[in-house]
Amino acid sequence: MGDKSVLVIGGGGREHSLCLELSKSPNVAEVHCCPGNAGTSLIATNHNVALSNVDSIVSLAKDLSVDLVVVGPEAPLCDGLANQLNKSGIPCFGPSAELANLEGSKLYAKEIMSKVGVPTASFHILSKDSDIDAALDEFSDNPWVVKRDVLAGGKGVVVTSNREEAKKFIDQSIITDNQVLLEAFLPGEEASMLVVMDGSDFVCLPASQDHKRAYDGDLGPNTGGMGAYCPAPVVTDEVKEKTISRIVKPMHDYLSNLPIPYRGVLYVGLMITQSGDPNVVEFNVRFGDPECQITLPLIESDIFELLHSSSVDKLSEIEVKFSNKHTLTVVLAAEGYPSSPVKGRVIHGLDSEVNTNSWINHAGTGFNESGEIISTGGRVLSCSAIGNSLSDAAKNAYELLSSVELKGSHHRTDIGYRAL
Ligand code: AMP
Ligand code: GLY
Repeated sequence: MGDKSVLVIGGGGREHSLCLELSKSPNVAEVHCCPGNAGTSLIATNHNVALSNVDSIVSLAKDLSVDLVVVGPEAPLCDGLANQLNKSGIPCFGPSAELANLEGSKLYAKEIMSKVGVPTASFHILSKDSDIDAALDEFSDNPWVVKRDVLAGGKGVVVTSNREEAKKFIDQSIITDNQVLLEAFLPGEEASMLVVMDGSDFVCLPASQDHKRAYDGDLGPNTGGMGAYCPAPVVTDEVKEKTISRIVKPMHDYLSNLPIPYRGVLYVGLMITQSGDPNVVEFNVRFGDPECQITLPLIESDIFELLHSSSVDKLSEIEVKFSNKHTLTVVLAAEGYPSSPVKGRVIHGLDSEVNTNSWINHAGTGFNESGEIISTGGRVLSCSAIGNSLSDAAKNAYELLSSVELKGSHHRTDIGYRAL
């Protein structure tokens, strides 16, 4: 076993997955998580520090003398966590506050895309003096896409064919944020491409597809993600090549030449047109959740080495290998998710047989006073699996899910349907 110590920031399914994979690394002796969840407490040491308290997180990293901090969610990055860790000489997987704006501000992302010539939907910035009706008219052939220019935890985008709804969201956003983006609708199929990058190089991880709507058939309200699978066949070799040459390479050329280069993972949310042309729908400055849970297991090379190299600009010195297997994860959501999830219910069946082909990723879980594992969030856990084919992975994941019990919970029964 190696002697490295890692601190993972966050407490959801993504962070459980990061802790799991890091704890398997031959380089890693100790994994710490802040704040973590019930699942991470079984494989790492949890530390009860609030994510909003950047100073305390930096102190924790110093006290623990960690070799690497891996930041899961975007908010601490927008608050300058990477900047402070870099100042203290602690390698951080996650970009500086300025570059975290690629997720924190849709307008900043649009400006960079326009500067480097990356394909994305055209848009208008609307404020109280704009002719909102004229702008709505211009995009009236398709549903309207309205995006707030703030970190809104997945609630900042409305896609609607109802003009009144679009107008209302525009008006409300202008009141709270002063401005809002109205974007042209892009038809096509979505996919997520996670790209690990630093000042020296970039590595594209296998592309995946998330299922954002709450119910089967992509119906119901938007969620953080109800399940995902990897690789996504919509990203053919040809689509991947176009994505690299038109999007990833120009973004990396720009981001790697800044005084502080982008160090971490850039989540490229793609809309792929019928003719196979990729457009950027959004950037995130972190691993997707649940995309992380099904992407990391397909990395055959050492995860610590990958994440650490990216935090110190040494990606160009390593070779990263991938498995040719398939992965799939199904999210078990609490009753009432996404609008008002019921929390605090005991989860049964977590000790059911977990083998190397399937495993549980904890998300919103904790312990009650009797030491039982209970639900503490909307997305409670996800059942993940790997197989030689996507249908094998789906079978393994759904089999595992059938052994877990949480009163009132719901899940989608059609994860991976586009590829199956
Ligand atoms: P975002 O937060 O920017 O990823 O948007 C949330 C979701 O809205 C995306 O995952 C898409 O499903 C949808 N969406 C965003 N922008 C567009 C667009 N320009 N055209 C079509 N759908 C979009
Ligand atoms: N699953 C989508 C996201 O993490 O933003």
